[in-house]
This record gives sequence, structure tokens and C-alpha cells, in this order.
Amino acid sequence: MKQAQETTRLASGLQLPLLGYGVYRIKPEATAEAVKTALDVGYRMIDTAAAYFNEEQVGRAVLESGIPRDEIVIQTKAWVSDYSKQGIRHALERSKRKLGTTVDVFLMHQPGVRDPAAMIEAWREMEQMVADKEVGAIGVCNFGPNHLDVLLGGARMAPQINQVELHPFFTQQAIREHDARHNVLTQAWSPIGGVMRYWGDDKAPSDDPLTHPLILQLAAKYGRTPAQVILRWQIEIGNSVIPRSSNPDRIAENFAIFDFQLSAEDRAAIDALDRGERGGPDPDNLPDELYERKIPD
Ligand SMILES: NC(=O)c1ccc[n+]([C@@H]2O[C@H](COP(=O)([O-])OP(=O)(O)OC[C@H]3O[C@@H](n4cnc5c(N)ncnc54)[C@H](OP(=O)(O)O)[C@@H]3O)[C@@H](O)[C@H]2O)c1
Repeated sequence: MKQAQETTRLASGLQLPLLGYGVYRIKPEATAEAVKTALDVGYRMIDTAAAYFNEEQVGRAVLESGIPRDEIVIQTKAWVSDYSKQGIRHALERSKRKLGTTVDVFLMHQPGVRDPAAMIEAWREMEQMVADKEVGAIGVCNFGPNHLDVLLGGARMAPQINQVELHPFFTQQAIREHDARHNVLTQAWSPIGGVMRYWGDDKAPSDDPLTHPLILQLAAKYGRTPAQVILRWQIEIGNSVIPRSSNPDRIAENFAIFDFQLSAEDRAAIDALDRGERGGPDPDNLPDELYERKIPD
């Protein structure tokens, strides 16, 4: 019996599971099997991106799952090099072709800091995609309050989602408050601190949220795993989460978070782990080779 999962209704009307399965850094040849495992476990939202180069395998797993297509939310992202009226339309068509199916949630992968006018032009086209029901929701990633304000200056519709690095060491209080003011759902990437482990795991235990003494203590207290405690904290402070794992047991573990609750004091104790330092790249200063890269058709 699958666990009930929590969903939220986005401003565009799309019903979004708060817990999704992320596929960044999963090799294309392993992606279909991983997504199939996640769908078997009960996940009904998959987060991919044109720049992850595994959309084909995500789409194949969804279509071969036998689960009605309208019960699964596929979320993908356009890269900055596609921010223009024609470019963003081309990006949507390319993602649809690779997925072999429709896109439910379409996100800008980064703020277009070097050409805000082009970003706004692309956003206006994305608004049209929602109006024409080509996609169910649109949003952004890695937008700070300043980026959101620039976008809103030329937008008719606020993003429904802002996906940002967010974990106990980087709680993004300012972004969460700004998102909430504009009815934008904050979605946590690296929700269990995966980015702290991208570049090797020679860190002290206290430098990884999953092995931090407070998280271990709370895991013992609630009879849960460290990842479950952190994901539960994320949901309880109002975030959507998209944890990634390639391991079937951990894929299932990360899904089993809807049958317990943290106390307010324990939630606050996790809030207090914030160090205000991101593990991933600064969206205002992406290296040229990343910012300018092209997505092959
Ligand atoms: N928009 C953006 O710019 C952006 C950037 C980065 C990521 N994302 C999205 O966010 C998703 C998640 O972020 P992420 O992949 O960076 O990090 P994450 O989900 O926080 O952590 C993933 C890492 O944690 C391990 N892990 C997973 N579950 C675990 C558990 N229960 N216990 C112990 N270890 C566990 C995984 O290893 P195993 O596979 O061995 O379990 C993997 O190394 C991505 O897949 C992607 O969809 C978006």
C-alpha cells in the first residue's frame, strides 16, 4: 500500500505533489530504471532538465510505467541560451520531443542576469504557454529576491515555483519570504544537502547535514533516518522537495515522510543550523562555459 502524499495547488491550478524525484547527475543509461523504481515506490513528480541530458530516459520510464500520464507531473527546465521568444518555444518543443510526451511544469534553469530583457521576453512566451494550456505551470530556478523583482517588472504572471539550493546549512530565509509574498512555491534542490557531497566526501561529519550531530540526534529521537528528518523539516516549513537517489532502498526511504511530524522546537533547531553559505554555484556569477552552453537538439 502506497503512502498518501501531500500535494499543493499552484497558482496556475496545477496540483503538485510536494515530494518529487530529482534526476540530476543520474547517468542517462541508469535514469529509466531509477525513475521506474521511484514511480513504483509512489513518487508522482519527476524533476529533470534539458541540461541534465536524460529527458529521453525520464519520458520513456513514465510512458512505460503503465501509470496514467495525467497522474504524473513531469517538470523540466530550459537553459539560459534559450531565453528569447523563439528560443524558449524551441526549448519547449525540444524537451517535449526528447521526453516523448508533454511537459507539465516548465522552469527557467537560471536567472538571465546578463540579458534581463531576453529573460523577460522568454517569460512572456512561457506565460502564453500556460494560457494556451501547453504546460500546466511555469516557474524559475535559482532566483534571489532581486532576480524575481526584475522578472516581475515585466511579467503578467508570477512564477508558480522557484527552485533553489535549500537545506539545513542554507535555509534561504529571505528567498522563502519573498517567494511567499508573491505566492511562489519555494522548491528545495539538494534538499538533503547533496551539493555538499558533489565534490568528494572527505568532510567532517558536522559539515554534511546528513551526519550533523543534531540531525543524528533527531533521527534517533523520532526513529527515522537523517534524510527523513531533513525532508520532513522541508515539508513542514512549506517547501516542495525533489531528493535524488540511485539506490532503491533510499528512493523508498526518502518517500516515507508523510506519517510523522517534528515538534516546533525541533524544526527551529534545524532552522538554526543555517550557515548562510551555498554549496553550489552563485547564480550571479556562473562561469562562461556554463552560462553560455547550448543544448543540442
Ligand atoms: N535547479 C538547479 O539548479 C538544481 C541544481 C541541483 C539539483 N537540482 C535538482 O535537485 C535534485 C536533488 O538535488 P541533489 O541531487 O543535488 O541532492 P540531494 O537530493 O540533496 O542528495 C542526493 C545525494 O544524497 C544521497 N542520498 C539520497 N538519499 C539518501 C538517503 N536517504 N540517505 C543517505 N544518502 C542519500 C544520494 O546518493 P545515492 O544515490 O547513493 O543514494 C546523492 O549522493 C537533483 O536531482 C535535481 O533534480 C536542481
